[in-house]
Amino acid sequence: MTDFAIAQEENLQTRIAQALSAQGKTTDALVLEDLAGVDEIHIGGLETIRPIVGSLGVGSGDVTLDLGSGLGGPARFVARETGSRVVGVDLSADTTLAGNELSGWVGADEMVQLEVADVCHVPHKSESFDAVLSVHVHMFLQAPAQMFAEAFRLLKPGGRFVVLDPVRCGDGDLHYPVPWASVADADNILRETELKTLAATTGFRPHTRSDFSALAIDWFSATFARISEMGGPPPLGLHLVMGPDFPTFALNAFQNLQEEKIALLHLVFEKP
Ligand SMILES: C[S@@+](CC[C@H](N)C(=O)[O-])C[C@H]1O[C@@H](n2cnc3c(N)ncnc32)[C@H](O)[C@@H]1O
Repeated sequence: MTDFAIAQEENLQTRIAQALSAQGKTTDALVLEDLAGVDEIHIGGLETIRPIVGSLGVGSGDVTLDLGSGLGGPARFVARETGSRVVGVDLSADTTLAGNELSGWVGADEMVQLEVADVCHVPHKSESFDAVLSVHVHMFLQAPAQMFAEAFRLLKPGGRFVVLDPVRCGDGDLHYPVPWASVADADNILRETELKTLAATTGFRPHTRSDFSALAIDWFSATFARISEMGGPPPLGLHLVMGPDFPTFALNAFQNLQEEKIALLHLVFEKP
């Protein structure tokens, strides 16, 4: 698994606060959107999270689980937009600690709790969640079937498992490195058919499927154009989480999408 922990002296939340300050913002007067440049650790930022929130089918009084929650950007957005409380789990203690601090900055700490745990062994009771979300996580796992089994166990009957993930397409190797693998031999990314088979074998029923690849390509193009116009990336960006290789990761992800080596899919499954 690629670890996003960065060997730098300041902790992640301090570096995020410094980057915000460089953009003229203070941590006591933020809205959720102010953090999106750093806390949406996936292709498309808020542009790909906004359209999937409704597919969770949750509202006030419900509890959603976010598997591989990172800094909690998607979790906080789900909580704000739906009124559902959200529990996130992530293997990285540094990221989780920083994510809970970010929740405090935007007043989301009552509604969003981020915990350190493996998505393959989540320490919560069976059938304790109304929906489960997973954004850009399966590719990091050697046994993704275990995450699907946990999603199924933790969901109440009738609940939805929403996945927003890149999938492999075509026959050739991807361009590497990508954030989840430095070389082809270390890459666990699945094809759409494999993810769907995994879900079906686990017991899920397919619900809906949307292809966000075109949206993702547009988002990359607009992001690169903005960076070029500004003469460089803004202080608040994913380099704070992913380190100095982030520009290479981004260019490779863009090229993989353009050459249809990967697609970005929004897949919704239902527990009968
Ligand atoms: C690309 S980031 C996505 C974070 C978040 N879902 C988002 O979209 O902003 C992938 C996350 O998965 C986490 N992760 C990878 N393997 C994991 C595991 N076995 N259990 C829990 N988290 C894991 C990483 O620590 C990282 O935070």
